[in-house]
Amino acid sequence: MKRFVVLVSGRGSNFKAILDEIQKGNIQGEIVAVISDNHHAKALDIARDAGIEAIFGNAKSEEYPQWLLGTVQSYEPDYVLLAGYMRIVPPEFVSAFPQRIINIHPALLPSFPGLHGQRQALEYGVKISGCTVHYVDEGMDTGKIIAQRAVPVLEGDTEETLSARILKEEHQLYPAVVKMLAEQE
Ligand code: GAR
Repeated sequence: MKRFVVLVSGRGSNFKAILDEIQKGNIQGEIVAVISDNHHAKALDIARDAGIEAIFGNAKSEEYPQWLLGTVQSYEPDYVLLAGYMRIVPPEFVSAFPQRIINIHPALLPSFPGLHGQRQALEYGVKISGCTVHYVDEGMDTGKIIAQRAVPVLEGDTEETLSARILKEEHQLYPAVVKMLAEQE
């Protein structure tokens, strides 16, 4: 059974979507810890309620990068899943888990990397956007793409309406990719 550590910063709806599929028995894997740089992240409550170790790490501390690496390593994960984790992972972290860190991004990469992918898409005026699951490398949302889903950008869309349309796809796409990873050798 594959072991997953999930890094989050907030709401945790992608984490929840993956957890639901594990609990239904559709993904043969285990989330062994959820780590957040935000003490108030709803994701931590979701983890605690599910009996999963929920850990806060203070990103303002100088030791945070070392602490994060050591803590994640102590869980011996097969994969590290970034699910709304709003920080760049340091190069030492990336090299400690080569091709083992996965992220979901709310735009069709390589378009609109970084923060507010949905807002960037709206401001640019594209007619199609979506979400991307990709491997994490040292760059900003530049790692190899695993899967994407597209959604239309509609007349009158706001950041909220577009984000909601993309999020619905994220909740399908991320668990599907995790299922695939769990089934790999
Ligand atoms: C999701 O839309 C995810 O794609 C995005 O943050 C949201 C987190 O929602 N991630 C990024 O923008 C990463 N740069 P969630 O906490 O409910 O899963």
